[in-house]
Amino acid sequence: MIAPKPHIAAMQSFALADLSAEPGVKVISLAQNESLSPPSPKALEAAKHAMTDASLYPDPDWADLPAAIAERHGLDADDILCSAGSMDVIAALIMAFCGPGDRVLSTAHGYGYFRTSAQFVQADYDAAPETDLTVDVDALLAMIQPTTRIVCVANPGNPTGTRIIRAELIRLRDAMPADVILLIDEAYAEFTDHLGEQMFDLVERGDTVVTRSFSKAHALAGQRIGWGLFPPSIGKHARKLLTAGGVTAVSCAAAAASMRDPGHVAAAVTKTSAIRDRFIASMNAIGIKTAPNHTNFALLQFSDVAERERADAAFRARGVIMRPMGGYGLPHTLRATIAADETMEMVASILTAWRTTES
Ligand SMILES: Cc1ncc(COP(=O)(O)O)c(C=O)c1O
Repeated sequence: MIAPKPHIAAMQSFALADLSAEPGVKVISLAQNESLSPPSPKALEAAKHAMTDASLYPDPDWADLPAAIAERHGLDADDILCSAGSMDVIAALIMAFCGPGDRVLSTAHGYGYFRTSAQFVQADYDAAPETDLTVDVDALLAMIQPTTRIVCVANPGNPTGTRIIRAELIRLRDAMPADVILLIDEAYAEFTDHLGEQMFDLVERGDTVVTRSFSKAHALAGQRIGWGLFPPSIGKHARKLLTAGGVTAVSCAAAAASMRDPGHVAAAVTKTSAIRDRFIASMNAIGIKTAPNHTNFALLQFSDVAERERADAAFRARGVIMRPMGGYGLPHTLRATIAADETMEMVASILTAWRTTES
């Protein structure tokens, strides 16, 4: 009989959102944290141009994308690895440095792909408790064991939307054993860049990796492209696990052009954040709790699972699909991607009407 490796047979596939709806109901997806703004016009133009050479394999060194990232953030292009989404960068790091008997540590509501990546290589996965839906550095430090190889922190976090300050990440790094890698996953960091708390300098220590994504503020989720800043001694091994030529030339060109259009990205972030804050205020006004948020989504906290299920059903009946976060230890919540103002106003009015009929 043909059989998979037992640990692969035992693992669950990484769950994405269920976007199904009743026949005839038009779906409005607020389930995948995609951008409400379109990509930069310069990215669209660059992608169109790159298609001219679509008969050729892409440059395995991602053309001038590392240079564009390095220019924008003041980094060394040689320390940058790109892949088809930051998910793949994260998986390559974990697969290169962990195996059976090793442990990957993250937090109670940490991004699910840390666990999935650990499962790829039969590493054990631990989750430290969070405090008020926020990463707790002391709880993480308390859970580091002699076999822990990587500590993964998404900052800001998904699905919580909360963040910890730079000083806390430095405190974590300083207190961690020198032979344990710290992965700082910054998929949403463009939403906090204005705070001036960038973490790239930590990579110079040789024990820390920072990843970022083009899927959120850059609005290129469909192009599947992400990147990481690696110390050379770590990056050279992670790179072996990235598919050679695995990022299309079109994606590289679009991402490089987007990096060189910071005004477009900043405007998208400002617009999204303003809509998010208004939406959150309207939710709080009708008694739905939210944690402080620094991303392009909001985590709606209902009073219990049953209430969340009823709210979810009310939305789905109208085709509005949010993401229930039970898989992240938050079964009483729905995560709502921030969409255009009119959509969020419509969502708020559905929820307000639903709460009135419930009470
Ligand atoms: C915290 C976090 N990290 C990484 C990713 C993966 O992003 P990408 O589209 O770059 O693979 C996501 C996607 O939602 C995310 O929320």
